[in-house]
Amino acid sequence: MATEPDGYLSGLFSLEGRTALVTGGSSGIGRAIAGALAGAGARVVVLARKEPELAATVAELTAAGGEAAWVSADLSTRDGIRAGAEAAAGVFGEPDVLVNCAGINLRPPFGELGEEVWDTTMTVNLEAPFLLGQRFGPGMAERGYGRIIHVTSQQAHRAFVQSGAYGVSKGALESLARSQAEAWSPYGVTANTLVPGFVMTPLNQRLSSDPEKVAALAARTMTGRNGLPEDFAGAAVFLASPASAYVTGHSLFVDGGFSVH
Ligand SMILES: NC(=O)c1ccc[n+]([C@@H]2O[C@H](COP(=O)([O-])OP(=O)(O)OC[C@H]3O[C@@H](n4cnc5c(N)ncnc54)[C@H](OP(=O)(O)O)[C@@H]3O)[C@@H](O)[C@H]2O)c1
Repeated sequence: MATEPDGYLSGLFSLEGRTALVTGGSSGIGRAIAGALAGAGARVVVLARKEPELAATVAELTAAGGEAAWVSADLSTRDGIRAGAEAAAGVFGEPDVLVNCAGINLRPPFGELGEEVWDTTMTVNLEAPFLLGQRFGPGMAERGYGRIIHVTSQQAHRAFVQSGAYGVSKGALESLARSQAEAWSPYGVTANTLVPGFVMTPLNQRLSSDPEKVAALAARTMTGRNGLPEDFAGAAVFLASPASAYVTGHSLFVDGGFSVH
């Protein structure tokens, strides 16, 4: 064991020389994860649709001393997913770390949930992580190092606040992580999920603007507060780094105890 703290810690957690792709990296949880991976030394590509947010994120990461770039792509169609994957790989090369954080939560009453909401939800939340995994997983396995990190939800485990198609997509995403883990872990590629509690971001603007609901959700945690995007930094670096080589097919709850309270 190295005794010099910096050397010891970097052996475990450094992402120097690694390339990461973070979908949904321009906002909320994904933006904080992109910042954490860049801070740990990775070259980071953030992928989402809106260019101003993407450019602002890259400016922020670069100003903090990181190496980052952005790709605008729409993950709600197969063509968009494929084009986004190729554009992302064209920036710094094939990614060693894939973070699937882009997600949407459309919440019509269940009886009115039609095929369009179902299809869009499944494409962005589930099919994009699948197709990006198919595109990049085999290469990671060939190179002997890869980290696939999905971002799921409490609703992957239980239904509440109108889980709808969203909960179904997130439940399947946890299964996808296990399938990927089974396929690629023998070759140095792990697949895990981060499971947030309630984090105030643009995703849940309507809920976030109701102080009573926000307080009630905070009371359901053990820490007594709702999540912040920065709460995901350490867990994301861990799951992206050499330190987590023997952690695969796992769901890591970053939720202040919400799920066990
Ligand atoms: N916030 C919470 O309480 C919470 C709880 C549980 C799980 N989660 C999960 O955490 C992840 C991040 O959520 P967040 O709260 O950070 O949300 P957010 O701030 O709304 O960010 C969502 C990100 O996904 C991107 N995105 C959405 N649709 C896209 C599309 N069609 N193509 C490409 N990119 C797309 C958005 O960028 P553009 O709009 O520019 O495309 C944005 O970068 C999601 O998977 C969500 O389900 C969040």
